[in-house]
Amino acid sequence: MTGRIIGLGSYVPKKVLTNDDFAKFLDTSDEWITERTGIKERHIADHITEKPSTMAVEAAKKAVEDAGIDAKDIDFIVTASTTSDSVIPALSCIVQRELGVSENCGCFDVVCACPGFIVAYNTVQSFIETGNSKLALVIGTECNSNFANFEDRGTCILFGDGAGAAVLKAEDIKRNEFIMRSSGYRSDCLTCQAARQPDRWDEEGFKESTSFYMQGREVFKFAVTEVPQIIKDLSEKFNFDLENDVDYFILHQANARIIEATAKKLGIPRERFPMNISKYGNVSSASIPLLLTEMKQDGRLKPGMKLVLASFGAGLTWDANYIIY
Ligand code: ACO
Repeated sequence: MTGRIIGLGSYVPKKVLTNDDFAKFLDTSDEWITERTGIKERHIADHITEKPSTMAVEAAKKAVEDAGIDAKDIDFIVTASTTSDSVIPALSCIVQRELGVSENCGCFDVVCACPGFIVAYNTVQSFIETGNSKLALVIGTECNSNFANFEDRGTCILFGDGAGAAVLKAEDIKRNEFIMRSSGYRSDCLTCQAARQPDRWDEEGFKESTSFYMQGREVFKFAVTEVPQIIKDLSEKFNFDLENDVDYFILHQANARIIEATAKKLGIPRERFPMNISKYGNVSSASIPLLLTEMKQDGRLKPGMKLVLASFGAGLTWDANYIIY
């Protein structure tokens, strides 16, 4: 058995921060940000009613409604988040409680930066394939603004907040095919080293070490090299043709130029790489389910379509899946 996505949902905070808003307190401009990243605006949580936990719950409720299932029947919830507002309990347990899922349900979270949704998805698929799950919920939820250094113009302009969720139902369909890769050896170019502790805030370097730190060019080079490569390797490993056997390439929305470079390297028309980064920025593990939800709602995504999902991020980690929607 393999899990098929039967429901999708998302949530983004109400507050929108445009590039022009950043230009009011940083030495930057709408032109620079748009040209280098493709981002025009991003949604920023209020941190009171909008947190990774509350956004995960909202996205999950919509996915359950979209799937037309009874939440009580869900038997696994796996949530990906690198910016969780809860050390314990796991966000998945909070979602379980808020949705009224039965106690006969396994709940845990995964931390894997931007590829987190794919990692959670593959984890759940392995439970489904081994007969341990029939109906599961996979969520990506992030409050990146909690860890952005709003004095660092090279990173804070990239990130946004939000959540996306998918309901997976066990069906007798083609196996989930994926490749997952990591390189702790290259971890230094994208870090957030310590948990925030208010009593240490004034120590020299503490604020910086608890914010996202990124060597932008290194991350860019990593992404435009490894993402096309892992997609090529996926097609060879599972014997499908990138030109003829894929309807859409759903990439992590980190930078429009990374997506365009990947399309070019693979020789696939840019139109088959949908983007919504202009509206949301980089929402880390929520970016792929957010895009899938939008594509389902506007009719682009239809049952039976063949998709490549690919993501990359801190770790460094990068993953790709070939799925039938
Ligand atoms: N506005 C104006 N100028 C800026 C800004 C800004 N927001 N940010 C940086 N600059 C300046 C720099 O200070 C530098 O100035 P200098 O030449 O006087 O020193 C100049 O622009 C060029 O800086 P670079 O960092 O070399 O610019 P680059 O073209 O590489 O673009 C960017 C920067 C957009 C961050 C790019 O490197 C990038 O997208 N990298 C990948 C980032 C990414 O995808 N990260 C997330 C992946 S993992 C995850 O999702 C957690």
